[in-house]
Amino acid sequence: MGFRRKIVAGNWKMNNSLSDALALVDGIVANLDKHSTTKVIICPPFPFISPIKQHLKDLVKINLGAQNCSEHIAGAYTGEVSAQMLASVNCNYVIIGHSERRTYFNETNEQLTQKLKRALENNLSPIFCIGEKIEQRKNETHFTIVKDQLKNVLTHFSEKELKNLILAYEPVWAIGTGVNATTAQAQEMHAFIRKTISELFTTDFANGLSILYGGSCNAQNAKELFACADVDGGLIGGASLKAADFCTIVSSF
Ligand code: 13P
Repeated sequence: MGFRRKIVAGNWKMNNSLSDALALVDGIVANLDKHSTTKVIICPPFPFISPIKQHLKDLVKINLGAQNCSEHIAGAYTGEVSAQMLASVNCNYVIIGHSERRTYFNETNEQLTQKLKRALENNLSPIFCIGEKIEQRKNETHFTIVKDQLKNVLTHFSEKELKNLILAYEPVWAIGTGVNATTAQAQEMHAFIRKTISELFTTDFANGLSILYGGSCNAQNAKELFACADVDGGLIGGASLKAADFCTIVSSF
């Protein structure tokens, strides 16, 4: 499917000071293959988005994303950050439904639906995360779980509304563990996700959708994972904090 966009996104999670973050950006700029057609997105913590945007100026095409947004539009929600605020600092992407948010912050499908709505209203491209836990893979409910995660949120929207959607399959057992999904496991699930999307929407939409793999994806294994027919790139945690590794991953197609 040559027309699908190749994407590598770095999820920095809750790491780094501002000076570390700017140094990491400089390292990425220095190491990035300028001829690569892969879309590069970095998702720093909220306070660093605007400084990084200013630091980058028009130097290279590095896109900025947030790791979360509020399900509310605005108002008395202490500590929350709205999609509108993100858009106002030229942040163009937002991760929604990361397993750490689902697990540690008890984010429900209803909340994720609202978050997606807020993102779309503000022209942010959502990177919507799905993925099963280890016990679910062991008891072979992983396909049902992932299908439900997709269905319970995405069917509240039209295909047109979701035109900028990016999906990320992140098996929870692979996140931060050093145990990535095998190429067979990744391809099998990505193909299943694409089939599910084609059933919920249309085949055209499913075929044009970028589905990223995340979970211990690194400079060593990215090439074989990205070679899978239905894997269109990666959502990278730990390895996105090392400029050289992240740039190697960006060049791993
Ligand atoms: P790791 O790459 O550190 O396993 O994290 C993956 C992830 O959660 C990206 O969102």
